[in-house]
Amino acid sequence: MNGNKKAGVYPVPKAWAERASTDAQRREAMYVASIANPDQFWGEHGKRIHWIKPYSTVKDTSFEPGKVSIRWFEDGTTNVSYNCIDRHLTERGDQVAIIWEGDDPKDVARITYRELYAQVMKWANVLRSQGIRKGDSVTLYLPMIPEAAYAMLACARIGAIHSALSSQCPPEVLASRIADAASTVVVTADQGLRGGRKLELKVNVDAALDKLPKVVKTVIVVKRTGAPVGMLKGRDHYYDDLAETVPDQCPPEEMKAEDPLFVLFTSGSTSKPKAVVHTTGGYLVYAAMTHQYVFDYHDGDIHWCTAEISWITGHSYIVYGPLANGATTLIFEGIPTYPSASRYWDVIDKHKVSLFYTAPTAIRSLMGRGEDAVKSNSLASLRLLGSVGEPIDPKSWEWYHRVVGGGRCPIVDTWFQTETGGILITPLPGATDLKPGSAGSPFFGVKPELVDEAGDVLDGVAHGNLVIADSWPGQMRTLYRDHERFEQEYFSRYPGKYFTGDGARRDADGYYSITGRVDDVINVSGHRIGTAELESALVAHASVSEAAVVGYPHEIKGQDIYAYVVLIDGETASDELRNELVSWIRRAIGPIFTIDKVQFAVGLPKTNSGKIIRHILRKIAEDKCTEFGDTSTLSNPAVVDHLIDNRLNRK
Ligand code: PRX
Repeated sequence: MNGNKKAGVYPVPKAWAERASTDAQRREAMYVASIANPDQFWGEHGKRIHWIKPYSTVKDTSFEPGKVSIRWFEDGTTNVSYNCIDRHLTERGDQVAIIWEGDDPKDVARITYRELYAQVMKWANVLRSQGIRKGDSVTLYLPMIPEAAYAMLACARIGAIHSALSSQCPPEVLASRIADAASTVVVTADQGLRGGRKLELKVNVDAALDKLPKVVKTVIVVKRTGAPVGMLKGRDHYYDDLAETVPDQCPPEEMKAEDPLFVLFTSGSTSKPKAVVHTTGGYLVYAAMTHQYVFDYHDGDIHWCTAEISWITGHSYIVYGPLANGATTLIFEGIPTYPSASRYWDVIDKHKVSLFYTAPTAIRSLMGRGEDAVKSNSLASLRLLGSVGEPIDPKSWEWYHRVVGGGRCPIVDTWFQTETGGILITPLPGATDLKPGSAGSPFFGVKPELVDEAGDVLDGVAHGNLVIADSWPGQMRTLYRDHERFEQEYFSRYPGKYFTGDGARRDADGYYSITGRVDDVINVSGHRIGTAELESALVAHASVSEAAVVGYPHEIKGQDIYAYVVLIDGETASDELRNELVSWIRRAIGPIFTIDKVQFAVGLPKTNSGKIIRHILRKIAEDKCTEFGDTSTLSNPAVVDHLIDNRLNRK
C-alpha cells in the first residue's frame, strides 16, 4: 500500500506502520477473520474486559423482520465500573485517570484511579441512599466536570441506567426527557460555566420539574460555582451533604451482559428524538476495542475528546473506552474560543495531549480564525488527530493535518452514530492510507453495504444508502420501552439489515465517504447529490468558513438548490462573491447542480453537539418560517432569527 503514492492519498508513515497496534496486513487478516467467524473473533476479544462469570455464548442476533433481537455474551456477568476502575488499581492506582481543565484556564484537577475509585463508591452510595436500585434510571444534567464521569460510573456500579442530557438543554426538553426516561432522581449542578458564561442548570431543573410534579423524588445538586440556588425542602439536596451520611465502600453489582447501561437521546436533527438503549458487556468490549485500535492507544497517551460527555462520543471516548483501557482522559469544561481562539492548542501543550479528537464544526471555525492562533503553541505532544460527527471536507482535513498535526499526525475520520455505540467506519492509523474526506474502511466485525432505493446491493464503486448487514457488539439493543419503533425505524426499510439513514460513496479501494443523511439528498432534474458533497465544495472556496445546502421545491426541476454560506473572518458578502460561488460549484460539481440561491449567514442553526439542523433551513428556504417542528435541540436561536430576516425566497 505504501509504495505507490496516489494523488490526494496520504500513505501510512513508516514509523507508524512499525509502532501502531496493527499494520495493513494484520488489519486485513483480523477483518477477514472477524467477518468469517464472528463467534470466534469476538469470543476472543470479549476477554479484554473482566467477567465475573465468563460467557459461554457470544453472538445471538437476528435482524429478521418482526423478530429483531440483539444479544452478545448473554450468559456472562460483569460490571462496567469495576472494569473502568477497580481492575486498574493494583497497577495504576496512582496514575491520573482524569485530567480536568476548567472553563477558566486556572481551574485544573488531576484525579488518579485511586481517587476515582473513592469518588465513584461515594457517589454510588449517595444514589442508593436516594432509593436508586438496579434497573432504575437516573437523569444526569451536568456540566463538563469530573462529577459527570463519577455519576455515570456510579450508576454503572449499582446497575442504574443513566440518561445524560446536554448542559445546554432548555427546561422544556429536560422535562420531556426526564419523563421519557422515567427517572426518579436528577443529578445537576448549581450552575455550569461555559466560555465565561453561566449556565443556570438548577434554575432549569426547577422549571422542568414544575411540569412533572410527581415523577422526580430527588434532585442532587453539585456545587460548581457555589451560587445560591433555590432548594426545595425534601426534594433537593447538595451532593456534599448527602455524601457525609453514606459509607465509603460500595462493591460493584454483578450485571448481566445484556442489562441496560444507559439511555441516550439522539441528536434529533431530523425527527422526534429517540431514546437509544445500550447494554453492558458488548458495549464495553466494543468501546474499549475501538478506542485502542482507532486511536492507536498506548500506555502513557493523554487522550482528549472534546465532545460533550452527554453525547455518545463522550460516553464511549471520554469515559468508557479510555477508562476501560486504563488511559488518562481529559475532560474540558470550556469552548474552543475562550478566553481566546488558541484555547484548544493551549490545552494540548499544557497537558501534553497526544490523541486529540474533535468535530469538523470546531475545526472549520478555528480554521476561519487563521493559523497564528495555532502557531503560538508547539503541539509537539500530538501523535494522532480524530474527527467525528459530520463529514469533514478535504479543505478542513488538509488544514487540520498541516497546521494542527504539523503534517506528521494521521487523521482518523471516524463515522458512527448514537445507535452504533462505537466507531464503525474509520481509518486505522498505521494500517490504512488516508484520503481526505473519506472515513475509510469498516472496523473489525462491521459489514457495511450500499443498497439502492429498492434494496438491491450495489457492488464495487457505488453511491447508495448505507446499511449494515450484521450485528456488532456495540450496537443499540432497542429504543427505551419501544421495541416496535426500534424495528420500524431501523429495520423496516431494508428488511434484514440495519439502516443507518446515511448515504455513502465507495471508491475503488473500498473506502467509504459519507454523503450525508439520506433525507438530505437533493434531486435536481433527476440527478441526485448528497448535501455533504455540495457543502464540501463550497467550503473549499477560500472565502467560505461554513456552508449548509438544502433543496426546495421547483416546478420543473423537482428541486432546486439553496445554499447558506458563512464567510471567514474579514470577508464581506457581495453579489460578486455570490456569483463567484455559483460558478465555483458549477466547475467543481457540474452545471446540473447550479446553486439557485446563496444566502450569506452569520451562523447556522445547530444542535448542542454541533450538527446543522437542516429541517429549519429547509423551511426557511421554502419561506415556511412558522413550521419548524421540533426545535428542542437548537442551541443558537438568534442565528435563526437572522436567517429568517434575510431569507431569499420571500413570497
Ligand atoms: O450522518 C452521520 C453523521 O452523524 C450521524 C450520527 O449522529 P449522532 O447519532 O449524533 O452521533 C454522533 C457521534 C458519532 C451519522 O448518521 N456522522 C457522524 N460521524 C461522521 C458523520 N458523517 C460523516 N463523517 C463522519 N465521520
